[in-house]
Amino acid sequence: MENIIIFDTTLRDGEQSPGASMNTEEKIQLALQLEKLGVDVIEAGFAAASPGDFDAISRISDQVKNSKICSLARALDRDIKAAGEAIKSADFKRIHTFIATSQIHMEYKLKMTPDQVIKKAVDAVTYAKTFCDDIEFSCEDAGRSDIGFMKEILDAVINAGATTLNIPDTVGYRMPSEMASIIKSLHESIGGRAILSVHNHNDLGLAVASSIECILAGARQVECTINGLGERAGNAALEEVVMALRTRHDIFSDYDTNINIKEIYPTSRLVSAITGIEPQPNKAIVGKNAFAHESGIHQDGVLKHMETYEIMKATDIGLDKNSIVLGKHSGRHAFKDKLLKLGFNLKNDEIDEAFGRFKILADAKKEIFDDDIRALVSAEIAKVEEVFKLVTLQLSDCNPGGVANAAVTILHDGKEVTDAAIGNGTMDAVFKVIDRVCGIKGELRDYKVDAVTEGKDALARVVVKVAFEGKKPVMGHGLSVDTMLATANAYIGALNSHLSMK
Ligand code: KIV
Ligand code: ZN
Repeated sequence: MENIIIFDTTLRDGEQSPGASMNTEEKIQLALQLEKLGVDVIEAGFAAASPGDFDAISRISDQVKNSKICSLARALDRDIKAAGEAIKSADFKRIHTFIATSQIHMEYKLKMTPDQVIKKAVDAVTYAKTFCDDIEFSCEDAGRSDIGFMKEILDAVINAGATTLNIPDTVGYRMPSEMASIIKSLHESIGGRAILSVHNHNDLGLAVASSIECILAGARQVECTINGLGERAGNAALEEVVMALRTRHDIFSDYDTNINIKEIYPTSRLVSAITGIEPQPNKAIVGKNAFAHESGIHQDGVLKHMETYEIMKATDIGLDKNSIVLGKHSGRHAFKDKLLKLGFNLKNDEIDEAFGRFKILADAKKEIFDDDIRALVSAEIAKVEEVFKLVTLQLSDCNPGGVANAAVTILHDGKEVTDAAIGNGTMDAVFKVIDRVCGIKGELRDYKVDAVTEGKDALARVVVKVAFEGKKPVMGHGLSVDTMLATANAYIGALNSHLSMK
């Protein structure tokens, strides 16, 4: 059996998905769940990108014990130094440095000659080696790079100490057969001197197929993300790569991964709860419909013999339809147990706080499902310092074509301020009155609402994207059985987030 190293980059490339940015607490929770999933390497971020990224990587390095922690770094001393310092406390660590090797990137982006690029790559790996032994080097845009040049640069970085060589199809351009022949050729020229890795983007919907073909061609590490999050159309989805290897064991009998597949579904749900990004319903493995049978013929077949229409068991990936539902009579012990099962590692005082919020929710909602708890805890973890806090919200009746009225009381600096505004519809009135009380005008760029679970009393989850004071838009999340309350809280959350960045 050959082990395929699973390198998860949800916290780095995945976080580059529009709207998927996470705060440090959220990143820690996710990293701990990735460790539970059995991921070999966690790319925890890009240390030089911001103090927040650096802090998240170092705190993840303190807490994760079994997975290797990696930070990305451009082939620049300052990036490599930040990466080395951020992962210092990890039990197992790696620096991942990269430089573009395609003609188009070298000429237009880097404005460097191929020789200069080789020198920079060698210098980067040599410097990274002063921080740790395990160094990954990536040829950015490898999919469109000259194979002869890649062999030359890879040879040079191996001599400088690189231990893993990553071959990304950065723009998702190559067909699986083309990526496989690149890997085959590099595999022959490298000949076991380093591990070959692939990193495929999904612009043509081929990232998983390419990753699998590359394994057959000699790659021993696959870079992927939960739910396929990532730049543009995303990266290869971890759950799809792992389940393809496992389900088609007849073809892939020589390969195995360390992934505990029972944790696939809980990890996918945690990522959705934290980012507010749901996988498309027909998404393979973790989409809402992945194990649902709608047509009568299919239902009949599955009832008679599951394998008539199912190639995998939902329970194998940890999708537990019989999971215990909590309610208002559930105690702290059952609640704590549930948090652990869902992948939340909270301290005692945090559990107490979450339990208090759970009780309030249980008064408003008869049955509390796993996704309700994920949403409840994630919303709390996402919170930044509450400069402004909604105390009450009052709305006028909604009449077709009529003017709506909203009144709020907001706590700021220990004082409660109350005001009212009218608007074209309730939502407009709510945003206007919050702008007025807080004294900062926001421009709503996006608004999304969905029901966390089923039923008329379902929790509404609202995600807003708002630009304040002409600055980069920020996200805000709100959660309540009342949609307008969730909306107001999401908007104020975005404002608090904007203020926390000042
Ligand atoms: O897609 C890409 O090329 C990357 C590199 C930084 C590995 O994400
Ligand atoms: Zn990438």
